[in-house]
Amino acid sequence: MRLRQPALSRVRQSAHAPMTQLPPFPDSLTPVVPRHVAIVMDGNGRWARGRHLPRLAGHKQGVDALRRAVKACIERGVSVLTVFAFSSENWSRPTTEVAGLMELLAFVLRHEVAKLSDAGVRLHFPGDRSALSQRVVQGLAAAEAATAHNRRLVLNVCFNYGGRWDIAQAARRLVAEGREITEESLNETTALAHVGDPDLLIRTGGEMRISNFLLWQSAYTELVFSACLWPDFDAAELDRALGAYAERERRFGQTGEQVKPPVGQQYA
Ligand code: FPP
Repeated sequence: MRLRQPALSRVRQSAHAPMTQLPPFPDSLTPVVPRHVAIVMDGNGRWARGRHLPRLAGHKQGVDALRRAVKACIERGVSVLTVFAFSSENWSRPTTEVAGLMELLAFVLRHEVAKLSDAGVRLHFPGDRSALSQRVVQGLAAAEAATAHNRRLVLNVCFNYGGRWDIAQAARRLVAEGREITEESLNETTALAHVGDPDLLIRTGGEMRISNFLLWQSAYTELVFSACLWPDFDAAELDRALGAYAERERRFGQTGEQVKPPVGQQYA
């Protein structure tokens, strides 16, 4: 008998009930609410174009959607949210758009950090900082230090990040330290080593690819693709993705039989 995963109704219920009040998940490798959600926030440009607005207007609206996603993740008991805000490849966009995204990051650092901290969010900015301005680099470090004590949600804003960069920088560091390159040593040297692998990766905007996001970390991540453009992303869209996740059977290379809970411990 296939493990019957509790779907959306259970996800919704968990929005109001602390995790400890949920019935135990004996052997299931798919807990109701994913611990770590990653998002490729795609579709800002198309959202703006559909409204005859400059692309940057879509990115600005994207910050509002990110604010909503943070709130909804906290309410649903997600522990880690990792978002792709600027990829290693985004430098090849028009200069004005790149400058606008840098400004947006500076804006977020100025205006959002205190509010996020009040909500219990611990910030990290995984990515290559060598190409960023001194002002931004200082802002990133200050935001990480100011929120380091928070425990409700870890928010990783990947900026100038690429999965290939991450694997290469980890390998370079290990070589520089004279350490052997193994799965374990690489794993603990990646830019996301402070959190476990994502359980669920959502990509909005209708494209079905990873685009150099968490290449190392997403080996066993469940993927959900949504046609919703990122600025339109809201709690209902998150719930749809969480509902799809809750229906999945995660096997991590094992057989379906191995990951089934003992008889009598399935959800009704
Ligand atoms: C991809 O959509 C989106 C980005 C490259 C930028 C994402 C940034 C945000 C959501 C704002 C948050 C930013 C910070 C600094 C916290 P796209 O532009 O490729 O959309 P398109 O595919 O419709 O053209």
